[in-house]
Amino acid sequence: MIKKTIALTTIAFSLTACSGSNDFSPEPNMTGKDIFDRTCAECHAPVGEYVMELSSDMKDADRIANKVLSGSLMMPSFPNIQGVSAKILSEYVVEHSKVK
Ligand code: HEC
Repeated sequence: MIKKTIALTTIAFSLTACSGSNDFSPEPNMTGKDIFDRTCAECHAPVGEYVMELSSDMKDADRIANKVLSGSLMMPSFPNIQGVSAKILSEYVVEHSKVK
């Protein structure tokens, strides 16, 4: 019974963690890498020397910034990552990702 409760709690937690909205607000002095390590790396694991893997049509800073802002069914949205922060983050991702 206790085991079952723990399992259900874990499932409920992962569901909340993997959708919805994340209110993280980058500080002005953060680099693209700082933001990535802090908010993206928990789900996007490094692939060799690269920070993550991108499909070829996502190797575009504007598309990435848009994805971060709007999220998806599987990925939370980050409504507070905008402007300069969105730009430096998405440029960092484009430069350091492996393309599928
Ligand atoms: C809670 C887990 C989670 C977090 C945190 C997260 N992502 Fe995602 N992300 C996903 C999942 C799952 C997918 C694949 C499904 C999809 O495309 O929506 C994805 C897809 C993407 C894609 C599209 C990749 C492709 O080639 O189609 C990009 C770009 C991306 N994430 C960037 C980011 C960035 C940048 C951050 C940090 C601001 C971030 N993600 C934070 C879970 C996460």
